[in-house]
Amino acid sequence: MPEARGAASLLVLFFHVLAFSGVVDSATFTILNKCTYTVWPGILSGAGTAQLPTTGFGLQPGQSNAISVPASWSGRLWGRTLCAQNATEGRFVCATGDCGSPTVECSGAGAVPPATLAEFTLDGAGGLDFYDVSLVDGYNLPMWVVPRGGKGGNCTATGCAADLNAGCPRELQVDVDGGGGGSVACKSACDAFGDPKYCCSGAYSSPATCKPSGYSEFFKKACPTAYSYAFDDGTSTFTCASADYVITFCPSPSTSVKAAGDQYAEAAPAADSSEAPAALIALQASASDRTRSKPSLSVAPVALAAVWQLLQLLSH
Ligand SMILES: *[C@@H]1O[C@H](CO)[C@@H](O)[C@H](O)[C@H]1NC(C)=O
Ligand SMILES: *[C@@H]1O[C@H](CO)[C@@H](O)[C@H](O)[C@H]1NC(C)=O
Repeated sequence: MPEARGAASLLVLFFHVLAFSGVVDSATFTILNKCTYTVWPGILSGAGTAQLPTTGFGLQPGQSNAISVPASWSGRLWGRTLCAQNATEGRFVCATGDCGSPTVECSGAGAVPPATLAEFTLDGAGGLDFYDVSLVDGYNLPMWVVPRGGKGGNCTATGCAADLNAGCPRELQVDVDGGGGGSVACKSACDAFGDPKYCCSGAYSSPATCKPSGYSEFFKKACPTAYSYAFDDGTSTFTCASADYVITFCPSPSTSVKAAGDQYAEAAPAADSSEAPAALIALQASASDRTRSKPSLSVAPVALAAVWQLLQLLSH
């Protein structure tokens, strides 16, 4: 049934045109899984910000999902690993990044540390988006954020491309299967020891008193643009105006950090190694000029043409 298939793809085109036409003022987050294993992203909106229509889903290796995010959204996004529906507990359980909700949707619940976090405040001070990748709550998998089509500020890629699990200091490791499965995540020193010195709390609650530790430096060496402790702002916060974002898990799967003491793999991948597939980029490129702008009349003829062609096809 080639006609039916043609009609269906035209319909898809039509809705893409609508979705990217600037009818809504929004940003697009394209979440891409380049890991060799399934990742279940979780999304949590910040206080006072409505949850997105989706707050959790699964991504097979190679799969991606583009979601529309309101213009002034703030919140965080992370990846859950080693998840399964647990019959005993009657809920969806993940070994890392679990959000404690009964289903795959996190529905307003955040990640249990340790988890690599991508944090966003869109359209904040000066109309800029502020974004970062944070290891302040520990690390569970490599994550890379690339702005697309934005301008101004220091609008560059950031994240943690390295695999830190194997090289994680022993006292910070999170093991499954009684240690036989190896480390699946790496705690922050704050999480592991609860010491105010590591948590930047109590007497250490200012940038002047809370300094990097040997533990935070383990994270910083491997991932120089990611937050390694609470007051790491200068080298870890990025800004961009009117961008869309591609968020990639395992941007370059080969960068495994060797055991502590060995040379750390300097892990920032070449800019193009975090690219989404070509077709996706083409879609992003054509969309990125429009998604953050006000409604544009130029879209109407394209939409009309799509509908007209659809009607032609259906009438045959
Ligand atoms: C389900 O949860 C129970 C209790 O936490 C645990 O002992 C069991 O191993 C889990 N089952 C699976 C299939 O993960
Ligand atoms: C990026 O710009 C912001 C705002 O000016 C600044 O606070 C931050 O330190 C800059 N980030 C980097 C990595 O230079």
